[in-house]
Amino acid sequence: MCGIIGYAGPRKALPLVIQGLRLLEYRGYDSAGVALGGSGSIRVFKKEGKLANLEAVLPASSAAKCGIGHTRWATHGAVSDANAHPHLGPAGKVALVHNGIVDNWAELKRELEAAGAAFASETDSEILAHLVERELSRLGPSCPRSGAIEAVAAALGRVSGTYGLACVFADFPGLIVGARNGSPLAVGVGEGECFIASDPAAFAAHTRQAVFLRDGELAAIDAKGWQTRTLRGEAVLRGAETIPEAAGLADKGAHPDFFLKEVYEQPQAVERTLGGRLVREYGNAKLGGIELSPREMHGISEVVFLGMGTALHAAMSGKALVEAWARVPARAEDASEFRAANPIVDPAALYVAVSQSGETADTLAAVREVQAKGGRVVGLVNSVGSSLARLCGAGVYLHAGQELSVAASKSYLAQVTGCALIALSLGRARHLSIGEGRRVVDELVALPAKIDEALSLRPRVEELAARIASPGRPAPSVLFLGRGFLYPAALEGALKLKELSYLHAEGFAGGALKHGPLALVGPETPTIALIAPGASYERTLSNIAEVRARRGPVIAVCPGAPEGLREEVDELFALPPCMEELAPVLELVPLQLLARSVASALGRDVDRPRNLAKSVTTE
Ligand code: F6R
Repeated sequence: MCGIIGYAGPRKALPLVIQGLRLLEYRGYDSAGVALGGSGSIRVFKKEGKLANLEAVLPASSAAKCGIGHTRWATHGAVSDANAHPHLGPAGKVALVHNGIVDNWAELKRELEAAGAAFASETDSEILAHLVERELSRLGPSCPRSGAIEAVAAALGRVSGTYGLACVFADFPGLIVGARNGSPLAVGVGEGECFIASDPAAFAAHTRQAVFLRDGELAAIDAKGWQTRTLRGEAVLRGAETIPEAAGLADKGAHPDFFLKEVYEQPQAVERTLGGRLVREYGNAKLGGIELSPREMHGISEVVFLGMGTALHAAMSGKALVEAWARVPARAEDASEFRAANPIVDPAALYVAVSQSGETADTLAAVREVQAKGGRVVGLVNSVGSSLARLCGAGVYLHAGQELSVAASKSYLAQVTGCALIALSLGRARHLSIGEGRRVVDELVALPAKIDEALSLRPRVEELAARIASPGRPAPSVLFLGRGFLYPAALEGALKLKELSYLHAEGFAGGALKHGPLALVGPETPTIALIAPGASYERTLSNIAEVRARRGPVIAVCPGAPEGLREEVDELFALPPCMEELAPVLELVPLQLLARSVASALGRDVDRPRNLAKSVTTE
């Protein structure tokens, strides 16, 4: 969640660290800070709030050639200047930035306090700085540079929990030591310079050679190069990999925020997810990354999709599609609940981990649990080279493009599309006829143009948003109702609205209406009804009637505008016709636009909603 960047080399570190923080800020934006390593001392600057607040207190220039920076998403200790990273050790000999959680912080803190330590912050991370400095002082004043690595390793030997961290030292100018356990960290290897970062995107503009640390590994970098080892002291001989080209600081173009830009990029995103993967002749999808023969696909006992948040909603669509097209039992599991429940893993099942960032801690932990129990996992991941993509080793990249707005948009459409590809190829190996397969292929091919058409609803969606966000009297709640294939889309529509606008929103299955949610219905509370011609159409119409009978305004979203629907609702957003199974992809478009317009009418920061971060790298 937090972002880490470090630089060691011949150039001035401060502008490089700030540039890296700018690229990482979307991961966490409660506070930010930098530490510049020098000869005999370290200078630390840190500030609560967005990066601009930190920039306002930085020196105009600094000659330091080595520095680390951090952008924080608070886990331990309130959002404040004092709790911002970097944290100094008590004698100012080490400054440390940390992403993760120290589980045994209370015990360690008690121990340090008993030895006279005083803490400047409420964070667990500061404890790490104290531990490293204690180990350094044990090694004595004449300790060589290698002693700094020893000190970090010895300190971490006391720690249980997760960390991606980086330290600079007062007495070892030009040296940065990093370590990883559960939180990503990569070394960027340049010409006569090195970087360290929680996301290689932070240094990709300077070098495309990266060494990805694994759990339990440390790295030391300086202008001369890098070395890696395990906590126990074994050498790690791993070469650098070439990472994708730097995306750079993305530009919003003509859009007021990244969210809207990314919503408008959805036709291309879905086109790229489909790119080269459809084989019309056989009515099939070709997924090179999964490498299962039709015979192996036939042997799959169950498909289990794993994900969190928006990715979980896409996973739920995956479950529905696999069951519909392949007639294989399927389920979608909240990765955090799944891994916490000592899951029963079936080696004949196919587990599919769905994630935009590929860094979500709970999804990674669920995958490790499945793998430890002999299960087969493939990834459905957007971020190339991410921890999840590497952990799964096989899967389907979404190619939705970089998503910078904290709330997911194009990655969701790409995830549902990716699930549809998996369902189609499984379906063709099991149950689906070539004719039915071709129909799915044709519908998928037509999807990007239909998404584009759906975007033209924006002016009408903005009018609705203005009513929902009515000054002084915003709607107390917005309900999202859907059945079957559209139930996960109802959940996703509600999630988008609540995270962007902070209004209460609830998504539920149409069948659940009478079992409780109906109590929320009234003239002030709009219901967005997701409906599509198909198996659930009539029953969703009944739900609409039940809401309207209680004077609840109903706004329907429907592909194809079936005859008579307009008369049954207060407002209809008609989309291009599409098959019921793919309606969640199209129907989300006006819901994303709605969430964004309500948020902007209420003056929210659309790209950086309060309390959230782009990737949730702590459990
Ligand atoms: C919501 C949102 C989150 C993420 C979730 C999983 O808009 O973005 O709910 O979907 O944190 O993230 P990934 O897909 O990166 O695993």
